[in-house]
Amino acid sequence: MTNQKVAPASGKLGILLPGMGAVATTFIAGCIAINKGLAKPIGALSQIGDIRMDKDGKQESVSIQDLVPIQGLDNVCFGGWDIYEDNVYEATVNAQVLDRYMIEQLKDDLAAIKPMKAVFSNEYIKNISGPNVKTGSSKMDLANQVIEDIENFKKENNCERLVMVWCGSTEKYIEESDVHSSLAKLEEGLRNSHPDIAPSMIYTYAAVKCGVPYANGAPNLSCDVPAIVELSEQTQTPIAGKDYKTGQTLMKTILAPGLKARYLGIEGWFSTNILGNRDGEVLDDPANFKTKEVSKLGVLEQILEPEKHPDLYGDMYHKVRINYYPPRGDNKEGWDNIDIIGWMNYPMQIKIDFLCRDSILAAPLVLDLALFLDLAKRAGDSGIQKWLSFYLKSPQAEPGKMPEHDIFKQQTNLHNKLLEYAGK
Ligand SMILES: NC(=O)c1ccc[n+]([C@@H]2O[C@H](COP(=O)([O-])OP(=O)(O)OC[C@H]3O[C@@H](n4cnc5c(N)ncnc54)[C@H](O)[C@@H]3O)[C@@H](O)[C@H]2O)c1
Repeated sequence: MTNQKVAPASGKLGILLPGMGAVATTFIAGCIAINKGLAKPIGALSQIGDIRMDKDGKQESVSIQDLVPIQGLDNVCFGGWDIYEDNVYEATVNAQVLDRYMIEQLKDDLAAIKPMKAVFSNEYIKNISGPNVKTGSSKMDLANQVIEDIENFKKENNCERLVMVWCGSTEKYIEESDVHSSLAKLEEGLRNSHPDIAPSMIYTYAAVKCGVPYANGAPNLSCDVPAIVELSEQTQTPIAGKDYKTGQTLMKTILAPGLKARYLGIEGWFSTNILGNRDGEVLDDPANFKTKEVSKLGVLEQILEPEKHPDLYGDMYHKVRINYYPPRGDNKEGWDNIDIIGWMNYPMQIKIDFLCRDSILAAPLVLDLALFLDLAKRAGDSGIQKWLSFYLKSPQAEPGKMPEHDIFKQQTNLHNKLLEYAGK
């Protein structure tokens, strides 16, 4: 059934993760547990998803795994970088997402993974610091060190291919500027250690330069600049960003298309949440929260199209808050109050109280992004992978184009791409 155009998933795939905190460790532990038969890959389309399609005039469901050649989880290995020296067993324990009984069953596999020295600077994240950090004469020197790490990892682990998924903390807000406008300017900026090139962009540059597909799970600029898009076309590398669409924004992009489909108006949408993990601690700094806020605020406007429906959405007030509250750890609680209006302008309210687990929601997204980017690379695709917007809060779009936020349209785009890869 598989289309010949996509090269087979032969050999081992290395998944590289800059940032080995709560999301990355929950992801790695989950993959190992699945391979040992201790857990199920719930939430990962690449493992349990299916697509309805026409066959001989009838509708039938075909599993995604049968449709396209996805890398098997039993032939994947993991590596990464962090500013802390803890191995992944210790980092998983510290993250306090998974129960200790599960972690102990995975101890040997987790302890064997040790983070490489990170590219990091308190210029971009103030609230954390650690000893496992590279030094270099310039940002280009640091990028070259990451390239060396990537090449060594591939050799030492006998990998046929690699992908990189950013799981590091959210950096301070940086606007796109001249240094990001072309590859030549970015490379000059790396040599001059330009302040608008954050550590996340140094990893991105290194990965894409090596032809390693790259996804960005945080709202940092990272691959969402013309210079990296140019490099990705040059090295034939698929890229996807930015910011995993997990808790509150996932709910928003599920609910908003439904309200719009019924032409119900919205006067206001207030979202607030409490979380107490390290991500929450980093986001407690206003400069880092600003990066997240911009990513979270963008979704409603594109879905609701207020310019077409001014009576329904023209004056909508949208507010998003994140509050660091240590007792909750990774178990975030998100509240939404939505003031809607119906027939003859009568007001109504919807309240959502989502008691979610941040890293449990994010881990399957890391897996799907890694495996689908690897698939895209084997299919010969490069540049922005719009079909992966399904996973992202602030999807990357070509200049002048609006990203798609409606989760149902995103799902259709993802299915269509997989069908295209399958030659259907
Ligand atoms: N969990 C979710 O639902 C979710 C959703 C959307 C986005 N995110 C984003 O995913 C990222 C990871 O979240 P988390 O909960 O695992 O956070 P975390 O704080 O537990 O882990 C992040 C890790 O990155 C490391 N780090 C920071 N800068 C680094 C650098 N330059 N190089 C290497 N390591 C670096 C930190 O030391 C830390 O261990 C955050 O940016 C977060 O905003 C998470």
